[in-house]
Amino acid sequence: MCGIIGYIGSRQATPLLIGGLRKLEYRGYDSAGVSVLDPAAGGPSRVVRCRGKLGNLEEKLKAEPAAGTVGIGHTRWATHGRPSDENSHPHKVGPISVIHNGIIENHLQLRAELVAGGSHFSSETDTEIFAHLVERQLVEGAESLTIAVRKALQKVRGSYAFVVMSDKEPGTLVAAKNSSPLVIGLGEGENFIASDVTAILAETRKVIFIDEGEIVTVTRDKVEITDLEGKPKKREPKIITWSAVQAEKGGFKHYMLKEIHEQPRAVADTLVGRIDLENDDVNLDGVNLDVKNIKRIVFIACGTSYHASMVGEFLVEALARIPVEVDLASEFRYRDPIIGPGDLVVAVSQSGETLDTMEAIREAKKKGATVLAISNVIESSIPRLADHAFYTHAGPEIGVASTKAFTTQLVAIALLAIHLGRRTNALSRERARELLAELVQLPHKMKEVTDQGAHLQVLARRYGHAHGFLFLGRGSQYPIALEGALKLKEISYIHAEGYAAGEMKHGPIALIDDKLPVVVLVPRGPSYEKTVSNLAEVRARQGKVLAIATRGDQDIGGHSDDVVLVADTALELQPNLTVLPLQMLSYYVADQRGTDVDQPRNLAKSVTVE
Ligand code: G6P
Repeated sequence: MCGIIGYIGSRQATPLLIGGLRKLEYRGYDSAGVSVLDPAAGGPSRVVRCRGKLGNLEEKLKAEPAAGTVGIGHTRWATHGRPSDENSHPHKVGPISVIHNGIIENHLQLRAELVAGGSHFSSETDTEIFAHLVERQLVEGAESLTIAVRKALQKVRGSYAFVVMSDKEPGTLVAAKNSSPLVIGLGEGENFIASDVTAILAETRKVIFIDEGEIVTVTRDKVEITDLEGKPKKREPKIITWSAVQAEKGGFKHYMLKEIHEQPRAVADTLVGRIDLENDDVNLDGVNLDVKNIKRIVFIACGTSYHASMVGEFLVEALARIPVEVDLASEFRYRDPIIGPGDLVVAVSQSGETLDTMEAIREAKKKGATVLAISNVIESSIPRLADHAFYTHAGPEIGVASTKAFTTQLVAIALLAIHLGRRTNALSRERARELLAELVQLPHKMKEVTDQGAHLQVLARRYGHAHGFLFLGRGSQYPIALEGALKLKEISYIHAEGYAAGEMKHGPIALIDDKLPVVVLVPRGPSYEKTVSNLAEVRARQGKVLAIATRGDQDIGGHSDDVVLVADTALELQPNLTVLPLQMLSYYVADQRGTDVDQPRNLAKSVTVE
C-alpha cells in the first residue's frame, strides 16, 4: 500500500526521496510523486508525479528536475479515485503540499463543505481535502504550519499518516499519525520521515516511532512531538539493528526466492532464547499470561497469517486443551462477537499494520479480552495496540507473497502452544521435551526441502501450463492446502483452490479431469490412509497427482504421478515442512510465466484499509 518519505537537510532531496520510495515499492503502488523545495531560493516547491512505477517518475524528473533540500515523496495505492497523474500524491493547494496514507472517512462531507466555501478540487482523492483544510487555516490566520495542521486535523475522521510541507515555511515538515505507521529518522543536520523504517535504514538507524494522535514538527536540527491539543510529548530515539543490506536481494533473482531460502535461518532466529531445555518449557520473552484463567483462545488474522492461525487451532487444542476459534479479522467485528474477560485473543500479523486486524483488536479490547500480538515488525502498530507482543524475528519480508513470515508464525504459535500446554498440564514434560527437540531440528529439516529447488523447477515446468490447481489436505494440512492455493493464485494468477481432502467428494471432484493437477499433502500421520483414499479418487478420474509425503514412504509413489519428500517430524510441526514445496512450486511456476513475482498485480504487502 501507500508509502511515505520526507527529507529535510542540506543534501539534494530528490535522490533521497526516490531511494526511500524504492525501498517501499514492495508494499504495492500504482503511482508516485515528489514535492521538493529549495529554501535558499524561497520556494515554491515543484511537484512532479505520475501514474505507474517509479521508473516513470524518474523519467519525468529528468525532463522537469526538482531541486532543493526539503521534500516529500509518496507511492500511492489507489483507494479514492483511480490511479492517474492527477490523483497521485503530493497534492498541492496554494503553498501546501500533502502526502497521505490511509483514508479520510468523512471525506464526502468535508469536500461538500469546502466546495460550498469556494474551494476548487483538481483530483478525486480524499487527500486533497486535507491540503485545502490546512491552507484555509493559514488563510484564516494560523500562526504556523504546525498549528494549521493541528486545527485541520480536528475536522478529519479516519486513519492517516500525513506529511505536510509549506512554501511559506520552507524549513519545516509537519507530520501526523492515526492508525497508519509513521517513523522519524534522525541524522546530523538532517532528518527523515517515513511510513516504514526500511525506507530510511540506508541513511540512519536512529529513529523515533510516532504514536497515535501525535503531531510532529521536523526541522533540520529538531524534532518536536505534541498531542492533538499541542501538549508536548517526550520520546527517546531507538536504534534499529536490521541492516539495510539484509533487506536487499543478496544474489537471488527475486526477494521471494531469497526469503524462501532464508526460512531455516529465520526459524532458528524465532527459536533463539525461547527454548528452556532445562525445564522442558518455553519462555515467551517475559510475556506473562494468566493461563489458568484463559477459557478460550480466539485467533484473528488475515491472508497468510490467517492460515497460520488455522494451524494454531490444531496446535493449541492438541497441546493445551484450551478451546480455540479462528476468525478472519475483516469479519470479526461485524458480527458483534461474543468475547470478553477470559478470552485470549491472539492477533497474528506479519506487518503489524493490517487495519482489519487492528480494528478487530480494538473491538476485542473494548469487550474486555486480553490481546497477544504475534508479529514480525517490532514496534509496529498491532503489537503496540495489544497487551502483549511476541515477535517472530524473521527479518524484513519484502516479497508480497509471504513465506518466511508464515513459517516463523507457525513456530511462534507452536512455542505458544507448548507454553500454554505446560501450564494447563495438558502437555506432559516428556512430550514437551520431544517437541522442543524436534523444533531444534526443524531448521535443518527445512533446509533439506529448500535444497530441492531443481526438482521443484522440473515439476513447475510439468504442471505450470495448467489453467487451475487443486490443493488437498486433512487436519493441520488443510490450512497448508489453503496456503498453497493462495501462494499460486497470488503470484502466478492461476486459479487454485485449497480444500479439506475429505470435502473433495462433496463438490470439487466435479472439476477433476486429466488436465487438473491436484497437489495432495499426505505426510505420515493419523490421516495418512484416508488421504491416500482421496488421492486414489483423484487418479480414478484421470487427475494428475503431485504428492507431498514423508521420506521413507515406500507406497506413495504407486499412488501418485510425482512426489516431493520431506523429513519426518512431530505431527504438530509437519506444516512447517510441507508448505515449503508449495511455496517453491508457486515461485517457479510464476517465474516461468514471467509474472512480477515480488509485486504481483493488485496486491499490497501491508493492507492499511478495511
Ligand atoms: C496482505 C498480504 C498478505 C498477508 C495479509 C495479512 O494481503 O498481501 O501476504 O498475508 O496482507 O498481512 P499481515 O501483515 O497482517 O500478516
